[in-house]
Amino acid sequence: NKVVLAYSGGLDTSVIVPWLRENYGCEVVCFTADVGQGDLEMNGLEQKAKASGASQLVVQDLKEEFVRDYIFPCLRAGAVYERKYLLGTSMARPVIAKAMVDVAKEVGADAVSHGCTGKGNDQVRFELTFFALNPELKVVAPWREWDITGREDAIEYAKKHSVPVPVSKKSIYSRDRNLWHLSHEGDILEDPANEPKKDMYMMSVDPEDAPNQPEYLEIEIHSGIPISINGKKLSPASLLSELNKIGGKHGVGRIDMVENRLVGMKSRGVYETPGGTILWAAARELESLTLDRETMQMKDMLALKYAELVYAGRWFDPLRYSMDAFMEKITETTTGSVTLKLFKGSVTVASRKSPNSLYREDISSFETGMIYNQADAAGFIRLYGLPTRVRAMLEKGM
Ligand code: ARG
Ligand code: SIN
Repeated sequence: NKVVLAYSGGLDTSVIVPWLRENYGCEVVCFTADVGQGDLEMNGLEQKAKASGASQLVVQDLKEEFVRDYIFPCLRAGAVYERKYLLGTSMARPVIAKAMVDVAKEVGADAVSHGCTGKGNDQVRFELTFFALNPELKVVAPWREWDITGREDAIEYAKKHSVPVPVSKKSIYSRDRNLWHLSHEGDILEDPANEPKKDMYMMSVDPEDAPNQPEYLEIEIHSGIPISINGKKLSPASLLSELNKIGGKHGVGRIDMVENRLVGMKSRGVYETPGGTILWAAARELESLTLDRETMQMKDMLALKYAELVYAGRWFDPLRYSMDAFMEKITETTTGSVTLKLFKGSVTVASRKSPNSLYREDISSFETGMIYNQADAAGFIRLYGLPTRVRAMLEKGM
């Protein structure tokens, strides 16, 4: 039997390789997805995996798929978890887990494994994807089974099994990086009263240190999906990485929050989402032109549920698909461009335009008005306010 392991090359996943062989007597195929976590994490991986005892390492570049099929739909939906979190880690798990299911089929593996702890959300996201796409796969989650507890334990286990201990010093934070975001958890952040240290951040400069000159940026959107920056058409992944650079330079997209994990506990996390924050602002702004009141209200209500499903690992549920069909339909006309001004951590709107704009100056202007007759308002208000008048009459005994 064979197992496909979600492999990062760090200490934990390096130790999982010999552990799986020892405890399950199986061949271990390592799998690494490139979702934009950066070169540092991708270098020398194959050697490392084999030195740990893996029979092979499969690497797949999922960047475009990740942005096009996972990030952009969430952006179009307006998904935000608990008022702040733009779901960077939550969106990456299903794309990685789906690829693992495919690799398992290709190499003839009957099991999959991951290095998530038993206390987090990630284990749920991986495993719900495995369940949804191949319910026959066995799932092994070493963190829920073994008695390795700390870093020292893991290093000792590695040495005993002559697995090279990764040289790069592990950071004190638990981090997860991809094209959309970088998350920081653990260490001093575990006390919500502690302010994050300045040197923790990696994708963005401190807003105080950002340029003293604002930068204007034009984002073009087609049916709710971003297609170009400053008139330059870019692929989904290159568009996002370009915006990460620009946003990061201006200190845009830092979020510090205490969130409710699916497993019941609260946890404190700090997120950097520079490009995502820019895109989010642009997409919502364009909707202010293209969506009418009822539509926008319903869309925002569903966005809340959509975000919850994504956070909870229910990406492949029929409900998420169906809601996505709604989001696609409702944003069909959300096409146009938004010009934003970035300055010391802030994103403000300078201009918005759409060929499908529902805004009409000839109706809304204070100056003129042929279509809108102010006299109509008197009757409208009398009927619209009828319940209010009736209640007041009752209270006054009229
Ligand atoms: N709390 C965030 C989430 O649940 C980030 C999780 C980060 N994951 C990690 N393996 N470091 O989506
Ligand atoms: C983990 O516990 O493996 C990371 C954090 C999370 O999944 O929420």
